[in-house]
Amino acid sequence: MGINNIPVIAIDGPSASGKGTVAQQVSRNLGFHYLDSGTLYRLIALVATQRGVNLADEEALANIAKQLRVTFKDKEIRLGGEDVADLIRTEACGNGASRVAAHFQVRKALLGRQRAFRLDPGLVAEGRDMCSVVFPDATLKIFLAASAETRAQRRYKQLMEKGADVNIATILQDIRERDARDSDRSVAPLKQSANSSFIDTTLLNITEVVNEIQRQYTEICVKNV
Ligand code: DC
Repeated sequence: MGINNIPVIAIDGPSASGKGTVAQQVSRNLGFHYLDSGTLYRLIALVATQRGVNLADEEALANIAKQLRVTFKDKEIRLGGEDVADLIRTEACGNGASRVAAHFQVRKALLGRQRAFRLDPGLVAEGRDMCSVVFPDATLKIFLAASAETRAQRRYKQLMEKGADVNIATILQDIRERDARDSDRSVAPLKQSANSSFIDTTLLNITEVVNEIQRQYTEICVKNV
C-alpha cells in the first residue's frame, strides 16, 4: 500500500480540549498508530531550557528539532537514556512549547518526522495543524472545541489528581494566553480547516466524542468501498 493510501484521522483543537485522551482511545479501538504532535514541541522546549537556549532563537531551536533523538514506547518517552514523559507534561513546558511552535523553521524541521508516523494499518494524529499542514489529505479531519472555562476545569481536575498545587484562575489565564499565541501566530495557526468536522465537546464526555469520531470514520469507509 502506498503511504498516501494509509488512512489518517487528523484531530486538531486548542489546549485541554480533550484531544489527547480522545485520539489515544480512537487509535486503540481501531488498532491504529498514534501521534501526539504537541509532545515534539514540548521536547524541544525541554531541551532548549536544559541547554539555556533562548526560546526566541529560531535557528538554535530548529537545530534541536533536527537532532532530536527520541523514542516512544508505551507511556515512556526516552530522550537519550532518560524517560521524560512526566517532565514534558508540566504547564511550564506547555507554555514553552507554544513559544517554540511559533517558529517556521522549527515546524519545517518536524514535518518529515511527523509524517513518518503514517504507517499501516493507519494513524490517529492530534495537534494544531494536523488537518491543515501535516496531513492535508487525511481521511477524516476533526476540530475539537470546548469553552475556555470548561477546558480550565478539566485541566484543574487533571492536575489536582496528580497532587499539584493549582489555582483555577491561573489555569484559565494560561489557557487564554496559550489560545491567543497558538491562534494568532503567522505560521500554521490553530484554526478549523475548511473541510474538517467541528465537534464541540463542552457538553460531551470522552466516550461520546470517541463514538462520534468513529461513527464519522465508519461512514467514510462505507462510502469508499
Ligand atoms: O497539545 P499540547 O498542549 O501538548 O501542545 C503544546 C504546544 O505545542 C501548544 O501550545 C501549541 C504547540 N503545538 C503546535 O503548534 N502544533 C501542533 N501540531 C501541536 C502542538
